[in-house]
Amino acid sequence: MRALTVLGRVHAEAVTLRARRRGRSGPAGGQAGLLELVVRERVVEAEDVVSLRLTAPAGGRLPGWQPGAHLLVVLPSGRQRHYSLCGDPTDRYTYRIAIRRLAAGGGGSVEIHDALPVGTTLRTAGPRNAFPFAAEPAVLFLAGGIGITPILPMVRQAARLGLDWRLIHLGRTRASLPFGDELAELGTRGGRFTVRADDEEGPPDCAELLRHAPAGGTVYCCGPAPMLAGVRAALDPSPARGLHFERFAPAPVVDGRAFGLRLRRSGLDLAVPADRPALDVLRDARPDTAYSCRQGFCGVCRVKVLAGEVEHRDLRLTADERAAGAMLVCVSRAAEGTRLELDL
Ligand code: FES
Repeated sequence: MRALTVLGRVHAEAVTLRARRRGRSGPAGGQAGLLELVVRERVVEAEDVVSLRLTAPAGGRLPGWQPGAHLLVVLPSGRQRHYSLCGDPTDRYTYRIAIRRLAAGGGGSVEIHDALPVGTTLRTAGPRNAFPFAAEPAVLFLAGGIGITPILPMVRQAARLGLDWRLIHLGRTRASLPFGDELAELGTRGGRFTVRADDEEGPPDCAELLRHAPAGGTVYCCGPAPMLAGVRAALDPSPARGLHFERFAPAPVVDGRAFGLRLRRSGLDLAVPADRPALDVLRDARPDTAYSCRQGFCGVCRVKVLAGEVEHRDLRLTADERAAGAMLVCVSRAAEGTRLELDL
């Protein structure tokens, strides 16, 4: 087997140790250093996809960022969500984010689509970058649907630098894929930009996708978990040398065991099945349970454990925080058949 570089990142958040260490003291987990931004423009970019242009209230310069960076946005409801910056990093006065409306999601995208008019002031933190683009000489970009958001600034930079790049944007239909005009403009020369719609060509074959990688090149991939799994599985026999990826949904529970939760203050007993995160079970019982990344790095879902032994699966909490009873319920669990008592 050839040695391949596989660096995985989760939307818009990395699972690399480096990024997680940064996250310990970063603003994503707390309220310090929040920056107020105003929604200046809303643009419908595709079916169920809207982009927002955000500026400082007085129009001043914003913190700089690089392709792959994301912004923590605190919505008026208090929900916190991370969105990749998909504008132009050389524009120091405007951030752009894009959001697909997910009716069955956690409510953040619906709030943005349905109740966030131009003029709304949002609290934000960042930008932070856990999916950096190394500008290798030869690159294949694979974007699944709204996964184009971190990829678009990378494509823009690749074009600017004259790199050997290709982009395949995948989705159910062409109408569901945002930024087609911008990407077509960037990829006009040499047919670098390809759209692959399921309703035209059927479900994608990841091995076939990777055959478009330049020999010895690097793949940057952002999309749903099945797509990432397929790309990872097909990487070894492909012409590519390395893979960087970012997923925008939590990875499935691995090696989970069923355990219980007791919510001391409300007196509820909840059963956490082996294949579900404790956060999801908590949200079934308490829909207002706070969360953001769902991947164990932002700290928003932190709870206090009063009794029981936690199987910590995050890399954010320090040993002292764990010893004091902190638990991130989006990823951490407990041993089979045991019960955690929470201060809820
Ligand atoms: S939701 Fe971010 S750490 Fe749990």
